Amino acid sequence: MTVLVTGGAGYIGSHAVQRLLVDGVRVVCLDNLFRGHRRAMELLDGRHPGLLTFVEGDINNRALVADLLTRHKVDAVMHFAALAYVGESVDDPLRYYHNNVSGLISVLGACDDAAKAGAGVRRFVFSSSCATYGQPPEDMIPVPEHCPQNPVSPYGRSKLHDEHVLLDYAEACRRAGRAFGVAMLRYFNVCGCDRTGLLGEDHTPETHLIPVVLEAAMGKRAEVGIFGTDYPTPDGTCIRDYVHVEDLIDAHVLAMRRLRDGEVLAYNVGIGKGYSVREIIDAVKAVTGRTFSVVERPRRAGDPPAVFNNPGRIRAELGWSAKVTDLREIIGTAWAWMQANPRGYVR
Ligand code: UFG
Repeated sequence: MTVLVTGGAGYIGSHAVQRLLVDGVRVVCLDNLFRGHRRAMELLDGRHPGLLTFVEGDINNRALVADLLTRHKVDAVMHFAALAYVGESVDDPLRYYHNNVSGLISVLGACDDAAKAGAGVRRFVFSSSCATYGQPPEDMIPVPEHCPQNPVSPYGRSKLHDEHVLLDYAEACRRAGRAFGVAMLRYFNVCGCDRTGLLGEDHTPETHLIPVVLEAAMGKRAEVGIFGTDYPTPDGTCIRDYVHVEDLIDAHVLAMRRLRDGEVLAYNVGIGKGYSVREIIDAVKAVTGRTFSVVERPRRAGDPPAVFNNPGRIRAELGWSAKVTDLREIIGTAWAWMQANPRGYVR
C-alpha cells in the first residue's frame, strides 16, 4: 500500500508519516516546507530507510500532485496540508481560503486526473476540526458529530467548506461508480509528541497554548498571556479538549482501514474532557517544576468559550478511544522533546 501524506513534514503530518512507516506502508510526503521541517523527513528516513519519498512542493500544484499519485500508484491520501491558526485566519482570511479550500480542490482534482490515467485513490482521510462547530449550544457539550456546524473563525469556515467539497466529490464518485471513500476527522486540540522522542512540535510562530506555556517554562518567553479571563466558564478562561497526537494518528489509521467504497465518515477526535487555560498552565508548572510570569490579556478574536468532545461515535464505530488521557502525561511528552531539542528541529 502507498499513502500520499500532504503536509507530512508538519507537526501532525510527520507523526502520521512515522506511524505509517512503522506499519511498513510506503509513504509519499508532499510538503512546501512553509511550516514543515525537512529535518523531520531526514530523521524518519534514517529510521525507516527505503519507505519514504519526500517531495518539496505545493498542494495547489495540481499537475505535481497528479503526477505523484500516478507515478507512485497511490492508494490513499491523508490530507494534512493546511494553515491552522485561528487568530491568523481572522487577520488574513484569503490566505486561509486559498490554502485550505483551493488546496483541497487541487488535490481532489489531481485524484480525478490520476483516475483518468488509470491510477485510483480509493481512500481519503481529511484533517477537519472541531473549529467547524464554533461555539456549540450548551446542550451540545460535550460535542457530538450531529452538532450544528456554525464556525466562528475563517479557519473554522475554511474547514467546513472543505467538508462540503468532500461530501459533493464523494457523491459524484459514487454516482460515477468510482471506488472512493472519505473520512473527515474533526480534531480537538492536538498536543504532545511522539514517545520515542524523534518528532516534536516546532512552529514559527508558535501560538498553541501548551507549547507556548512550555516555552515560558524553558525561559524562551518572558511570560504567558491568558487570552480572556471573563468567559462564562468556572475560572473565566477558555476550555478545550487536548488530545495526544499519537492517539489522533491512531484514529486516522483506523478510519483509513475501516473505510468502504462510497462511504463518507465524520468523527470527532478528542478525549472527551475539557481543561481551562488556567488548568493547562498549572499542569505545565507541575510537570516542569518551573515557574514563570502569567499575565491576563483581552480575549483573542475567533475563540469560542468552551468546546470538548463526545467521543461516543468514534468509540462505537472505530473502537477508538484516547490511550493517553492524563494531562500531565501528554504535557510530559512535549516537555521531553523540547528539552532535548531546545532550538527545535534546527541541527
Ligand atoms: N491561549 C492563551 N494564550 C496563548 C495561547 C492560547 O490564552 O498564548 C488560549 C486561546 O485563547 C484558547 C486556548 O488557549 O482559548 C487554546 O488555544 P490554541 O491556540 O492552543 O488552540 P485553538 O483552540 O485556538 O485552536 C486549535 C488549533 C486549531 C483547531 C482548534 C480546535 O489551532 O487548528 O484547536 O479547537 F481547530
